Amino acid sequence: MDFTREDKQKISSSIREKYQKVAQSPEGQFRYPTGREGLDKQAYGLDILDKLPTEVLATFVGVGNPLSLGRPVPGEKVLDIGCGAGVDTLIASHMVMPEGEVTGLDYSSEMIARAKQNQAICGVTNAKFLQGSAEELPLGDGQFDLVISNGAFNLIVDKEHALAEVFRVLKTGGRLQIADQMLVGAPPSDHKAKVASWFT
Ligand SMILES: C[S@@+](CC[C@H](N)C(=O)[O-])C[C@H]1O[C@@H](n2cnc3c(N)ncnc32)[C@H](O)[C@@H]1O
Repeated sequence: MDFTREDKQKISSSIREKYQKVAQSPEGQFRYPTGREGLDKQAYGLDILDKLPTEVLATFVGVGNPLSLGRPVPGEKVLDIGCGAGVDTLIASHMVMPEGEVTGLDYSSEMIARAKQNQAICGVTNAKFLQGSAEELPLGDGQFDLVISNGAFNLIVDKEHALAEVFRVLKTGGRLQIADQMLVGAPPSDHKAKVASWFT
């Protein structure tokens, strides 16, 4: 990727600005359905959704359902990259109970604060939330059975590096389940437009 340091700074400050607003309220911030409507459209299923309060479900801004590719089982360790307000993290924490643990990681400190608030509302004790970047995970090697991510990889500038980080923190034989948006067609050829495509 031929991005300069300045391009990367522009992209990361646009992401931080956007998610600072989303942490207050996701309403009107996305072109796709969010909150309970989004979760229903992504077929999360009532057995899962009934476990979380309405006000927590309202903070979901994912684009798909990474857990539809396979659910973690009790005792497993799961990492949710770009966890936002932590809806998938908290859903997964119910699936791995009682001994399993789920870590949610996000770039935006405001989204992490919202995730911790959601955790307190749910009374979940086997989840933790960390502020950090997918490109440099603040986590040790080989500790997770499953890495999930929902709507975050499209925002990461150095996807190759982020994927290398995923494989570093996964145990041997661990799984990666990503739900994301894909660009159909060629990316903008003009450099300025390519950078701007992150925040327009
Ligand atoms: C569309 S939101 C999805 C949030 C959450 N996964 C959900 O389903 O509600 C994308 C999230 O990715 C986070 N993000 C973007 N770039 C990131 C990066 N490089 N490292 C970690 N998180 C990142 C954003 O802060 C945002 O919370």
